Amino acid sequence: MNLKGRSFLTLKDFSPVEIEYLLDLSAELKQKKKNGILGSSLKGKNIALIFEKPSTRTRCAFTIGCIDEGGHPEYLGKDDIQLGHKESIEDTARVLGRMFDGIEFRGFKQETVEKLAKYSGVPVWNGLTDSYHPTQILADFLTLKEQFGRLKGLKLVYTGDGRNNMANSLMIGSTKLGINFTILAPKSLWPEETLVEICKGYAQTSGSKITISDSLEAVEGADAVYTDVWCSMGEEHLAAERIEQLKPYQVNKELIAKTKKAETVFLHCLPAVKGNEVTEEVFEQFANVIFDEAENRMHTIKAVMVATLGNY
Ligand code: CP
Ligand code: NVA
Repeated sequence: MNLKGRSFLTLKDFSPVEIEYLLDLSAELKQKKKNGILGSSLKGKNIALIFEKPSTRTRCAFTIGCIDEGGHPEYLGKDDIQLGHKESIEDTARVLGRMFDGIEFRGFKQETVEKLAKYSGVPVWNGLTDSYHPTQILADFLTLKEQFGRLKGLKLVYTGDGRNNMANSLMIGSTKLGINFTILAPKSLWPEETLVEICKGYAQTSGSKITISDSLEAVEGADAVYTDVWCSMGEEHLAAERIEQLKPYQVNKELIAKTKKAETVFLHCLPAVKGNEVTEEVFEQFANVIFDEAENRMHTIKAVMVATLGNY
């Protein structure tokens, strides 16, 4: 599989085989690190990490993943550069492309990460935008593979804000890889119809099913229940409204019981607001798998950099 020179902006751009390849490479790099073996595939490569929004996991995963493979990461926070304020995105992209070998971007608009890729001429990786969070999905799916030994045919239920970056990216990834995907949310927070239609196309090819429902009964049979914060970064002013809308969709022990399955796991991309989208009790019950998932951010992000930029 050759993904050299490719950007990673949304999972829409990657075939199921390519996504599976990235998951396999992640597992391989994880095993190597556990055995004390680090690579050198990013030796001599300089990587820019642009963050318009804050981050713990994504920033650390790109930093450690890069250094583990012999590369040099450079953090560029929102007050460090003039991206889109004093300098156009196109110009910053062209400058960074002359100095760096790869660029990570976390921020607001998907359009920004797309422009960076278009004008920099080097691989650009999406570390989260308002629309998508594709590297998170790789970590989520690696974790599910570790738990169940497969992805195809699993039932994944996402409950909460059904039109945010996580819901969108989970829907794309699940339907591409044959996971039956349910969004459980009030109608006011259902995903955009155009994206649902695109994903229905993927589902037809992979043999999976999409369900969008506002009824808690839709959780029945879930192998994994997933949630995310009720208010994404940049939407903090909507907190009171969101709590009202989403209170019935909290992941608590009653909701987990409705799966009617003993082996259901709970996933969360983190950070979590306990008491809102998930109770402390459920969070702690599944803490091991949640923190495997957080660790897997590093192995999967490393795999994306190695596959698209490394000498591997
Ligand atoms: N899950 C995730 O992206 O975490 P950070 O916001 O800490 O990067
Ligand atoms: N939907 C969340 C994801 C955080 C990883 C946000 O955008 O803030």
